[in-house]
Amino acid sequence: MKKPFELRVKPIKNGTVIDHITANRALNVLNILGLPDGRSKVTVAMNMDSSQLGSKDIVKIENRELESSEVDQIALIAPRATINIIRDYKIVEKAKVRLLDEVRGILRCPNPNCITNSDEGVENRFYVISKEPVMLRCYYCERLIESEEIESQF
Ligand SMILES: Nc1ncnc2c1ncn2[C@@H]1O[C@H](COP(=O)(O)OP(=O)(O)OP(=O)(O)O)[C@@H](O)[C@H]1O
Ligand SMILES: [Mg+2]
Ligand SMILES: [Zn+2]
Repeated sequence: MKKPFELRVKPIKNGTVIDHITANRALNVLNILGLPDGRSKVTVAMNMDSSQLGSKDIVKIENRELESSEVDQIALIAPRATINIIRDYKIVEKAKVRLLDEVRGILRCPNPNCITNSDEGVENRFYVISKEPVMLRCYYCERLIESEEIESQF
């Protein structure tokens, strides 16, 4: 049966669609990307039905392609995210974010006594001990960092 009306979001000509974001984390993704910035055209959808994930968020940004450092940060809060690059309305590239076995220089260790929080200039460094949900362990103080604690840093 036809729905009473259907609203369609305009497709974007050039830009990026970040799909399969862990539900309710679209705003963390925006923070990572420095959005909103007062001029970029951004579409955000939260808690959408997903056959793969149950529910998911989606972020679409016009005229922007992501830096690899941004993708590395997104992987920490949305390990199933897909980055679709749109050119002339078509997807020209689709890639899944990837978490490496170690994460360096992105997150603070929550342990205030950790050497990475002293002024000795030691760069933070974590082992990835689980990819879904993401769980990390500090290389220096062995503090365990769970997914919600990671999310709270973005
Ligand atoms: N030109 C466009 N403008 C805006 N959004 C687009 C455009 N092209 C594709 N999308 C969106 O990008 C996402 C991926 O599109 P695709 O057609 O690859 O869907 P899919 O086959 O379900 O992909 P996947 O297998 O990754 O789930 C969808 O959310 C789709 O709505
Ligand atoms: Mg899909
Ligand atoms: Zn530590």
